[in-house]
Amino acid sequence: MNPYELAYQRSLSDPEGFWGEVAENLHWYSKWHKVLDDSHPPLYRWFHGGLINTCYNAVDRHVEQGRGGQCAIIWDSPTTGAQRHITYAELRDLVAMCAGALVAEGVTRGDRVILYMPMIPEALIAMLACARIGAIHSVVFGGFAPNELAVRINDAKPKVIFSASCGIEGGTVIPYQPLLHKAIERSTHKPDRLIIVRRPQAEVSFSSRLDLDYDSAIAAARAVDCVPLLATDPLYILYTSGTTGDPKGIVRDNGGHAVALKWTMDAIYDVRPGEVFWAASDVGWVVGHSYIVYAPLLHGCTTVVYEGKPVGTPDPGAFWRVITEHRISTLFTAPTAFRAIKREDPNADYLKKYDVGGAGFRALFLAGERSDPQTIQWAEHHLKVPVIDHWWQTETGWAIAANCLGLHRYSVRYGSPTLPVPGWDVRVMSEDGRLAPIGQSGPLVCRLPLPPGSLVMLWQREDRYRTSYLQAYPGYYQSGDAGYIDEDGYIYVMARTDDIINVAGHRLSTGAMEEVLLAHPDVAECAVVGVADSLKGQIPIGLICLKAGVARSETQIIPELVSMVRERVGAVAAFKTLARVQRLPKTRSGKILRGTIQKIADDKPYKVPATIDDPEILNEIKASLYALGYARKDNKDNNAGASDSDSW
Ligand code: COA
Ligand code: AMP
Repeated sequence: MNPYELAYQRSLSDPEGFWGEVAENLHWYSKWHKVLDDSHPPLYRWFHGGLINTCYNAVDRHVEQGRGGQCAIIWDSPTTGAQRHITYAELRDLVAMCAGALVAEGVTRGDRVILYMPMIPEALIAMLACARIGAIHSVVFGGFAPNELAVRINDAKPKVIFSASCGIEGGTVIPYQPLLHKAIERSTHKPDRLIIVRRPQAEVSFSSRLDLDYDSAIAAARAVDCVPLLATDPLYILYTSGTTGDPKGIVRDNGGHAVALKWTMDAIYDVRPGEVFWAASDVGWVVGHSYIVYAPLLHGCTTVVYEGKPVGTPDPGAFWRVITEHRISTLFTAPTAFRAIKREDPNADYLKKYDVGGAGFRALFLAGERSDPQTIQWAEHHLKVPVIDHWWQTETGWAIAANCLGLHRYSVRYGSPTLPVPGWDVRVMSEDGRLAPIGQSGPLVCRLPLPPGSLVMLWQREDRYRTSYLQAYPGYYQSGDAGYIDEDGYIYVMARTDDIINVAGHRLSTGAMEEVLLAHPDVAECAVVGVADSLKGQIPIGLICLKAGVARSETQIIPELVSMVRERVGAVAAFKTLARVQRLPKTRSGKILRGTIQKIADDKPYKVPATIDDPEILNEIKASLYALGYARKDNKDNNAGASDSDSW
């Protein structure tokens, strides 16, 4: 057996032995009573009774073990031309002072702190400061509109919010303070304090009694030490899109999270302490939490905070510049970033200006959406390093399936993120609720207990946690993805089984967009679906039916709807296309056939669902989608190779 097979088998046959050994690589104030607390299935807790501090393990431990002079964070902001290198010793001091500023505001263990931050080092410092004192951070992606921020403020009820005077998006300065104030105006919960990082690109006014300047707060603070916390205490809440506009607050604990993430740096990414690891994502997403902040720092690596884009900042050579300048060994990003580079520089001419191999670049990892084979092959051809597709979710916090470079490198099968990672027992369900045979498509599920580091709860919503993930297939976690597993165990992730779409690697809920459209006084009903897009993977398109008697024309109403979604969900939704239709296809019980609409738009074979109330509607929908530039006029419903995507 190779090291992957050994690790995989042991992780399933002896999970307590496997993870208990892995946990020895961290500092514990006191060891756990039990590696796996399985006394309340289907709820499981790892390292029950253990005392740990994530910040101590990610920062102070390295200083004490001689890494104080090593760079911990490299900040690279191409449009402002700014760069900053922060050593582990400096990071410890900055985090200790920031934690002191929180303590001065009365924040203690278990209190929530929201971060609405651009890609600047202070975002990481504030997250680690929370971890230092046991406050629970909740980072909200800067591209979300004030409305989305308000929803999260109401749910998390933070004492303090960290923000900055602005973010830099491509070449545009986006002032954050007005967005933040608008969100607080709309939220029913009011924080006690807003701590704002001043940036030279945008002024801030400290007019509100809530506002406090970050630098002044730090200057006035006293450094505080790490607090021993229960392994099972929450480290953070990260809100992610669910089927409705009500986001899910994924809760991650301290102990299991630190154990699993540190292990992945070796086992999956094959990276050593001291090397430079770059996740080109945003701290507002799970990839940012796990692989910009926690995993590289827990492992003693240098992490890169890049406030730029793959293209346009200033050109499609941006990634190659960062790799060579900062001597990056491993890059992790979303396939859409590579599609953007490929589109602007198909022959990779910009790459020829840089010696990425000479800089020690060894591997590219892609996740966040399905990796199309063309993009992987393009990257393999030009970069001449392994290009690894791996599958994961906000809920899981780290990869469910991957080609674990640190254990054994398997051959690539395009379209598959390879094999389940140790700890993950992945299966496919069939329609009758039993496990599906090899090769058959169906919902992808993972046998409980999930390994350490995956979600332990939805914030204050145990009922929703159970119904969303644990109820449909007793004994298994329902991933929300569908796919199949081949005869060699390779996993293929093909589609979501719910109304979640992935736009440029950003996870969004079509249900949330529908809620916004339905708030317009002229809209009677609507459907939003994600259609294939050559750059962003998917983009949302909407179909609306107007209320009877509406006199205003759709040319007036449609732009209003586009700006409502931008205003309430955010620009990242990239919601720009919608059409008016007379009626929507539904089952006889009234369920809108979104999966079928999506297949028609994407020119994929589809089955006319047996339960449809009037099959003729599909031709009307096809004509409307064709007018929007989707669907082929001659695409007939076709059972060959078709699946009924509305049945999952
Ligand atoms: N704050 C404010 N606005 C933001 C934002 C932020 N943090 N992030 C994105 N936006 C805005 C953008 O300015 C853009 O607005 P526009 O419609 O006015 O142009 C809109 O949201 C869409 O942004 P984005 O999804 O980034 O698309 P893009 O067309 O600007 O760029 C890519 C396309 C592919 C280059 C870009 O999406 C990218 O680099 N993706 C990398 C993938 C990634 O980071 N995924 C995260 C999970 S791994
Ligand atoms: P997020 O929670 O934002 O990380 O999005 C998770 C979703 O993105 C998953 O449920 C999948 O639908 C999709 N996804 C992530 N990685 C992959 C991958 N490698 N292949 C296919 N889909 C993926």
